[in-house]
Amino acid sequence: MLLHLPDILDRDTVAHCRQLFEAADWVDGALTAGRQSAQVKSNLQLPEHATQIDELRQIVLDGLSRSAQFFSAALPQRILPPLFNCYRDQSNHFGQHVDNAVRSPAGSAEQVRTDLSATLFFSDPGEYDGGELVIEDTFGTQQIKLPAGHLVLYPSSSLHCVTPVTRGTRLGSFMWMQSMVRETERRRLLYEMDLAITGLRQCSLAADTPEVVRLTACYHNLLRMWAQV
Ligand code: NI
Repeated sequence: MLLHLPDILDRDTVAHCRQLFEAADWVDGALTAGRQSAQVKSNLQLPEHATQIDELRQIVLDGLSRSAQFFSAALPQRILPPLFNCYRDQSNHFGQHVDNAVRSPAGSAEQVRTDLSATLFFSDPGEYDGGELVIEDTFGTQQIKLPAGHLVLYPSSSLHCVTPVTRGTRLGSFMWMQSMVRETERRRLLYEMDLAITGLRQCSLAADTPEVVRLTACYHNLLRMWAQV
């Protein structure tokens, strides 16, 4: 399931983050890539020691925590610290790859299984040419280029790439997370069920009927059966 979550960050917050990006010293993005992906990765990344990185990470995580849709779709158990990248000039693409299955936060022995990947856009589509995030989904190949502040969430098992940026600069944040529910299809069922229950609750005739209460119990009991916490 590939999901577009609009307005994770508002325009003012995006503008503030971009000021932080402007003051930053970017480094070669291959530093955090796995062996296969390092060979096809040519972009810039904010280093772990960047003075701006803690504030930027908190802004992204706060944006995610405000989104009920994100929680429902991802059912996150652990989110790795978000990273930040920049595609421009000669550092302008990331070839076809799959993200590493298990990752550790920098300087930590903790291991996190990457069930879901996310990209949060900080540049608007009109600011650059190319730079599409191309994801192989079960429904075919998807080309993603979203407004600044919007996020795409997709299974980490997908092959994906970023096409060369031929004009302008593409700024983004990317992150991985382990979900309470490991299987994509189970997560999808829970997400669809949650959407339906939320819709029924908003419909005055159905709200809080015994049937809605029973459906809500089913949702929680499926989550209880499938969640690993
Ligand atoms: Ni990737």
